[in-house]
Amino acid sequence: MSEIRGNKVTFNPNKLVLTAGATSANETLMFCLANPGDAFLLPTPYYPGFDRDLKWRTGAEIVPIQCTSSNGFRITQSALEESYKLAKTRNLRVKGVLVTNPSNPLGTALTRNELELLVSFVAEKGIHLISDEIYSGTVFNSPKFVSVMEVLIENNYMYTEVWDRVHIVYSLSKDLGLPGFRIGAIYTNDEVIVSAATKMSSFGLISSQTQYLLSAMLADKKFTKKYISENQKRLKKRHAMLVKGLESTGISCLESNAGLFCWVDMRHLLKTNTFEAEIELWKKIVYEVKLNISPGSSCHCTEPGWFRACFANMSEDTLNLAIQRIKIFVDSSDVIGTNIDQSNQTNQNTSTSLKKKLFAKWGFRLSFNDRER
Ligand SMILES: Cc1ncc(COP(=O)(O)O)c(C=O)c1O
Repeated sequence: MSEIRGNKVTFNPNKLVLTAGATSANETLMFCLANPGDAFLLPTPYYPGFDRDLKWRTGAEIVPIQCTSSNGFRITQSALEESYKLAKTRNLRVKGVLVTNPSNPLGTALTRNELELLVSFVAEKGIHLISDEIYSGTVFNSPKFVSVMEVLIENNYMYTEVWDRVHIVYSLSKDLGLPGFRIGAIYTNDEVIVSAATKMSSFGLISSQTQYLLSAMLADKKFTKKYISENQKRLKKRHAMLVKGLESTGISCLESNAGLFCWVDMRHLLKTNTFEAEIELWKKIVYEVKLNISPGSSCHCTEPGWFRACFANMSEDTLNLAIQRIKIFVDSSDVIGTNIDQSNQTNQNTSTSLKKKLFAKWGFRLSFNDRER
């Protein structure tokens, strides 16, 4: 953790609680910090899994901090205040703000200014700040990753009340590409939370065999350093490939410097400026172009027409093929308004249509998770 943060912050192992991935870390923090009906404020768009991880079993609520494309989806003071007000009008007690740095789905790292704004906001309101830094090792372009811990130290928050109210979530699922190993962590300066989270971690332990294997692997400093820098180099190359490829089809992406995905602007391909049109376009891309991307509405984006496209989980050849398919799709005369069922009618038999319906349901559930709750 220190190495990824340029050794600007040191982490005390006594303040670290191991969990079965970031999923478990985020839920555990909710159990520790919020009572049912209490709220956390989250900048939109956000990782769809948060609806499940933060709300389902804890009874906590999420109130959006509305971020928009007008400033590259950056967090502003007014958006924070609006969100806080909205929670109050819904009679919710605000317990904190949760950010993902770098962001899933935007692929952007928070700026120092945004972090300072967040820290002073939680200081003023007397609430918590959770920073999910699961993508911290994926920053492949400048500006460099800045951890909230660094900002706390630089702004003299050490050993103040705020120091105890800022918590980091981490996991090896993304930086080391090990989601199946289920290795996550909470890092907090608050001893009471360390103690409560340690007790709760019994419900999501990392097996001792996994810990043993990992500690041997991570102890090889030369390997981990090389792995992270090589990974960043490859992500940078793959990101550039996708951005350039999409640009050649007239599609642009939000400028980003981290993560495993791009935030793609397809607003001009919508039939109307609505979420219904977004879903219509998404279905075409899934069923006709046969590419699995996520619609922005699944991430609670407030503007229809944005999509998240992953570029890291495939070979270069596959990515080239995906870009090729998008190109053909965009170039085709009838991108907008094609009825999927009609266009496939000719050689469609009953069994493929049934398969499609089931796939549609499954895809929708997978992408939207707990959208309605
Ligand atoms: C922001 C964020 N937090 C948490 C998780 C869950 O990670 P894990 O596999 O470590 O549970 C993800 C996974 O995509 C994520 O994007």
